[in-house]
Amino acid sequence: MGKVGLKLAVGCAVAACVVASVMVGRRVRRKRAWRRVVKVLEELEEGCATPVARLRQVVDAMAVEMHAGLVSEGGSKLKMLLTFVHNLPSGSEEGTYYSLDLGGTNFRILRVQLGGQRSAIIGHDVDRQPIPQHLMTGTSEELFDFIASSLKDFVEREENVSEHSQSERRELGFTFSFPVKQTSSSSGILIKWTKGFVIEDMVGRDVSECLQQAISRNGLDMRVNALINDTVGTLALGHYHDEDTVAAVIIGTGTNACYLERADAIIKCQGLLTTPGDMVVNMEWGNFWSSHLPRTSYDIDLDAESPNPNDQGFEKMISGMYLGDIVRRVIIRMSEELDVFGPVSSKLHVPFILRTPLMAAMHEDDTPDLREVAQILRDTLEFPDIPQNVRKLVVRVCDVVTRRAARLAAAGIVGILKKIGRDGSGGIASGKNEGASRSKMRRTVVAVEGGLYTNYTLFREYLNEAMTQILGEEIAPSVIIKVMEDGSGIGAALLAASHSTSSVDTVQIL
Ligand code: BGC
Repeated sequence: MGKVGLKLAVGCAVAACVVASVMVGRRVRRKRAWRRVVKVLEELEEGCATPVARLRQVVDAMAVEMHAGLVSEGGSKLKMLLTFVHNLPSGSEEGTYYSLDLGGTNFRILRVQLGGQRSAIIGHDVDRQPIPQHLMTGTSEELFDFIASSLKDFVEREENVSEHSQSERRELGFTFSFPVKQTSSSSGILIKWTKGFVIEDMVGRDVSECLQQAISRNGLDMRVNALINDTVGTLALGHYHDEDTVAAVIIGTGTNACYLERADAIIKCQGLLTTPGDMVVNMEWGNFWSSHLPRTSYDIDLDAESPNPNDQGFEKMISGMYLGDIVRRVIIRMSEELDVFGPVSSKLHVPFILRTPLMAAMHEDDTPDLREVAQILRDTLEFPDIPQNVRKLVVRVCDVVTRRAARLAAAGIVGILKKIGRDGSGGIASGKNEGASRSKMRRTVVAVEGGLYTNYTLFREYLNEAMTQILGEEIAPSVIIKVMEDGSGIGAALLAASHSTSSVDTVQIL
């Protein structure tokens, strides 16, 4: 080899070494960055951990807060609102009733025919419509006019095909799923909005009156004779089918629970009610808070950037409005550590773009190469083809967020059972004599509605599993969770029917 050849060979060898070391360096950096991404996941897992011991602390905190909210107005973050529903439907209700269900991204209008015998809901027709986004943040008149005119169209369509006697006044049960301070079973004042609704002029006003006025403006002859929360409708339908139903929970866009409480336990209104007996209490558990809740930096940021900061803390960890957004925030964090997602798309920074049904679809993707995950990330967040290890990571994130939500909801339910002495421990005041109360544990049914529980299999499985872990194998079989499809809407019609025959109770506003 001549001199020139030697120089060339040495030059090539040096260049090869440089390229190799650059490549090795890059690989090492990528490896380190990947480890940081995995660390983001591990920290999330740690921050969201819900071992049974922690869940039991949440159970106790829930029961204690419920008690505090019943003692005095403002005594707890749980509002424990009176509903004036003393008698749940018995099954003898008869006739045709309308109901309007407003509370999430859609609203529904129902016409329910009741046959007078338990389980004989002869039929119901439903019209479901999305609420245009601009009406969720406009004026109350715009929102209610839109609803009333849709109601009028529905009534006209329905009564074209079936008879309506002119002498009968149409009666409507209104399910309005926001915190309302009821003044009777058919009237109440909006305390605040949740779930992305912001219609300022409505806060502090009587919700039924707003609807009744809009109905009249639209020339429809119909009386609003029940105003209820969606949880109360679900409890009503649950009780109609099964008298052991003592509580109802909604886990959908928002989350909440109600239950049947002894009147003497509602200390804050003792002596003020005109009707004795039990009463359904709307807990508004979305606003529950306890230091035992596992809160992460993602929850803190989500809350701070929401339209209602420092509000609805439990709801923001559990419900469908928020879960997808928590996942989106974790993905942002991961993409800051490593360009695993390719060039970061601006879509990733759009709040609420990753809706919970999409997150559920990714979580439940059972294709071997997680094709659905890749497609959702591409279609929704404009990520190009995501490698398989990153797809797996995204599924893990969905799993952690959903598991925490489902387990916290389970703890909330057991908290209610504890408050009313149906968790096998003998209620919040006791805890002693457990053996004796276990043997007396009565069959207890909790009615549930909402897409997260009904449509999201893994959420449902996690919730059920946590119920058994908290209650124990012995007690758990006595507690039955029953899905009440359309409970919030049908329940409103049932309550409209039972209120049309019974006297209406009121109370002074405290
Ligand atoms: C509301 C509750 C409602 C729940 C479920 C919450 O945001 O405050 O009144 O029951 O969502 O729809």
